[in-house]
Amino acid sequence: MRVAVFSAKRHDVDFLGAANARHGHELAFLEPRLTLETASLADGFPVVCPFVNDEVGEPVVERLADRGTRMLALRSAGFTHVDVKAAARRGIAVTHVPAYSPYAVAEHAVALLLALDRKIHRAYVRVREGNFALDGLLGSGLHGRTVGVVGTGAIGRAFARIVLGFGCRVLAFDPMPNDALRGEGVRYVDIDELLQTSDVVSLHCPLTPATHHLIDARAVATMKPGAFLINTSRGGLVDTAAVVEGLKSERIGALGLDVYEEEAGLFFEDLSARIILDDVLMRLLTFPNVLITAHQGFFTEEALREIAETTLANITAFERGDPLPDPVPAG
Ligand code: NAI
Repeated sequence: MRVAVFSAKRHDVDFLGAANARHGHELAFLEPRLTLETASLADGFPVVCPFVNDEVGEPVVERLADRGTRMLALRSAGFTHVDVKAAARRGIAVTHVPAYSPYAVAEHAVALLLALDRKIHRAYVRVREGNFALDGLLGSGLHGRTVGVVGTGAIGRAFARIVLGFGCRVLAFDPMPNDALRGEGVRYVDIDELLQTSDVVSLHCPLTPATHHLIDARAVATMKPGAFLINTSRGGLVDTAAVVEGLKSERIGALGLDVYEEEAGLFFEDLSARIILDDVLMRLLTFPNVLITAHQGFFTEEALREIAETTLANITAFERGDPLPDPVPAG
């Protein structure tokens, strides 16, 4: 099938291209992000393949439907950027990649945590300048500390198991507790107890109306003073302004982000020679105890292979009229 792949980067060409040898679709790799302005690039393509920061709200869905698109094959797990109801109304099938290497994101969350605790981001720059002093690089260590995991799905479980291996005490909050994890020593508590008692809070729940700004000013005030906050899930889980205040008051001891509420149009782009207008992001970057990566949690070879294969398998099933392996729930 003819597939318009939006927000295409080098790795999309490489991994989707390699997996497509088994599927034989006609892939058009389009660099622009999908927006109402760029949607015309998909005119006549029955399948559109968006990524996480593409805009697939109702106006874009309507525009695509008017010009012949019949399937949205998301190459991401998350689908909150898509108006699934509008797509259903227009008879557009929507699939996603519900599961791929949860270890990729879990390990990235741990990488942020270890780097922040041992100040690796600062040590790296210092040593390169010939500054071998240890002042300001004191870590607190993770063994014996309490780590709170919000959301114990595939990624949260992988994260919890890694930190259990470090000798951490692990608390979790999830409306659907996991018995296996309980058996491994994780204690489920309510969100307030988790925030009050955790030295590290790591977010692994999806972004929904119920979790939007889960970490707001009240949550920051509830957190244990000096606690670390790690968000590799979705930017909208965190009220960034409240977290900036929490960093200024030192209530938050360190912040590791792989996602940011206003990341669309910034993350995945090289803006190093441009003026960045997002004052909140730029303020965050001035804190020595903040480490930000630009949505790279999923970015491992294993994960990219799985994402490419699942995305194309969904398209192949659609082409054959078979039941779709990974439809996005319409509700
Ligand atoms: P999952 O669906 O396996 O697990 C999500 C868990 O969150 C479930 O156990 C669910 O019960 C729980 N949950 C739902 N509402 C909750 C609430 N209000 N409070 C606490 N827990 C709640 O999802 P998975 O694969 O573990 O992914 C988690 C998130 O990671 C995704 O939603 C996505 O936003 C993010 N992600 C980030 C990536 C990155 O590159 N940084 C890549 C892939 C996913």
